[in-house]
Amino acid sequence: MRSACRLAARLLEYIEPYIQPGVTTNRLDQLCYEYILDHKATPAPLGYMGFPKSICTSVNDCICHGVPDTRPLQEGDMVNVDVTCIKEGFHGDTSKTFFVGEVSQRVKDLTNCAFQAMQKGIEAIKPHGTTGDIGFAVGRFVTRQGFFPVREIGGHGIGKKFHDDPFVPSVGKKGKGDILPPWSCITVEPMVNELSEGIRELSIPGSSVKYYHTVDQGLSAQFEHTVLVRDGAEGVNYEILTARDPHFN
Ligand code: MF3
Ligand code: CO
Ligand code: CO
Repeated sequence: MRSACRLAARLLEYIEPYIQPGVTTNRLDQLCYEYILDHKATPAPLGYMGFPKSICTSVNDCICHGVPDTRPLQEGDMVNVDVTCIKEGFHGDTSKTFFVGEVSQRVKDLTNCAFQAMQKGIEAIKPHGTTGDIGFAVGRFVTRQGFFPVREIGGHGIGKKFHDDPFVPSVGKKGKGDILPPWSCITVEPMVNELSEGIRELSIPGSSVKYYHTVDQGLSAQFEHTVLVRDGAEGVNYEILTARDPHFN
């Protein structure tokens, strides 16, 4: 898990400078595909339930699972790039919302909210705690900021399987939901909408993966880390496996 997650984190750092006005999301997909193969790993999304690409690129009002295409990114866009690497059979899953050139204050505020919501969710993790603790922390924070947590889609258990139990919600009650056993891995990946919590589910030709847009064309932002639940020894309750590595570069 450490190896897969470290590679996923480095991939997001690698791709960041390419995210500029005029680049297509297909080009970002191709660059990520080559980077992953060069590092003797596999892009988990490619062929997963028929998904056609190696990464997800979700632009503006796309909430998640956006499929890379030929459209060039434009100045002022926001784009979430979600990458998952398989290394020696284990999955590392992480995403970040990037700005394309100069963006509005609204885009910055929403994106900051999603980033901080992810951090609040991670900080709520403790061994033998629950997914509801995470959902509560995320949902309270987002709501207080005047934005809307997406209820239907969220984080997941992860390891040899890409998507495993438990579901990790962005709303919830403390102490409710599934227990978080020490030394298990989950993702925390809140999606935050600008105008309402409403989502619209859309089909991807040839795939059973769905992608999602906001119902009202409002913006949506997301961040994701893969996190190891620790046992609390020495006061350590969790470890972010996809954290950026300060000793690299
Ligand atoms: N990486 C996404 C997640 O965070 C899942 C993408 S599945 C795909 O769970 F098929 F769309 F790639
Ligand atoms: Co995930
Ligand atoms: Co992901």
